[in-house]
Amino acid sequence: MKVAVLGAAGGIGQALALLLKTQLPSGSELSLYDIAPVTPGVAVDLSHIPTAVKIKGFCGEDATPALEGADIVLISAGVARKPGMDRSDLFNVNAGIVRNLIQQVATTCPQALIGIITNPVNTTVAIAAEVLKNAGVYDKNKLFGVTTLDAIRSNTFVAELKDKHPEEIDVPVIGGHSGVTILPLLSQVPDVVFSDDEIAALTKRIQNAGTEVVEAKAGGGSATLSMGQAAARFGLSLVRALQGESNVVECAYVEGKGDYARFFAQPVLLGRKGVTELIDIGKLSAFEQQSLDSMLDILRKDIELGEQFINH
Ligand code: NAD
Ligand code: LMR
Repeated sequence: MKVAVLGAAGGIGQALALLLKTQLPSGSELSLYDIAPVTPGVAVDLSHIPTAVKIKGFCGEDATPALEGADIVLISAGVARKPGMDRSDLFNVNAGIVRNLIQQVATTCPQALIGIITNPVNTTVAIAAEVLKNAGVYDKNKLFGVTTLDAIRSNTFVAELKDKHPEEIDVPVIGGHSGVTILPLLSQVPDVVFSDDEIAALTKRIQNAGTEVVEAKAGGGSATLSMGQAAARFGLSLVRALQGESNVVECAYVEGKGDYARFFAQPVLLGRKGVTELIDIGKLSAFEQQSLDSMLDILRKDIELGEQFINH
């Protein structure tokens, strides 16, 4: 099993690499790539941790050596938000970065499962899909926008509010990964009852949680450590699925049946070939249905922007 992290010298990349070095199964390989010259040093640093995970670091313009033989590629390369910015403000820089990296993935490890962390996820996943399609190697079951942070935040905030253990809470989060496109399905949390006011306040907090971190870091970036944890959880779920474990389910932003938008975050069953089943989003409350209906225009426009970036 070989996992490649692109953007590995960044805030997310380093946290993710640390978690993967300590949690990947014995015998795995971890490959770190970033344009930053420190990247081989990050790998040397991590290599002193006594786990049976081989690690190598690569820097410079060419990601190919890091991607050779990769089964899973996790991409967090790109710029992060500062206070006052929306995720869509990152498009100008990050769209080109994701396009270039995915072109290299298409050439070097086209069979890999790909997790896109780089924002704006609603759009960068569409960019990745179009690049892979134009290269003739697109498999919609193997491309994921990583929305796990929305799920772990939801679990944490619900547990705090209802005095429960966060590990016992599992909130499905559907839609996309920005503002109102993030829709936690609080009505589906078993054994927890919310008032209408609690639902409204929690939903808003989950939708604005990224901004909460951006403002708290006051110009020093966005979520890196919680995102490192979220990406590690998602990446390790992909590893378990590739190894043949059954019942591995995660919410992720994938190309599904197109009932709501071409790409849509929903629970998916993972297997050796990526998504093996799209799990129905189930029954929504009136509040959730209305929130879903009113987000779709925004989500579809975000997707269109990515498609046009590649095709026009
Ligand atoms: P960061 O600035 O700390 O790290 C980004 C890294 O990307 C840097 O090390 C930089 O050298 C590298 N990089 C830039 N261009 C590159 C290229 N062409 N090839 C390889 N590496 C390149 O940023 P961060 O805090 O790690 O955030 C990274 C991205 O993740 C941002 O776009 C951020 O908005 C996004 N993010 C997404 C989620 C999510 O839930 N999906 C959560 C948090 C952050
Ligand atoms: C997050 O949700 O924390 C990330 O998407 C980063 C951001 O810009 O909010």
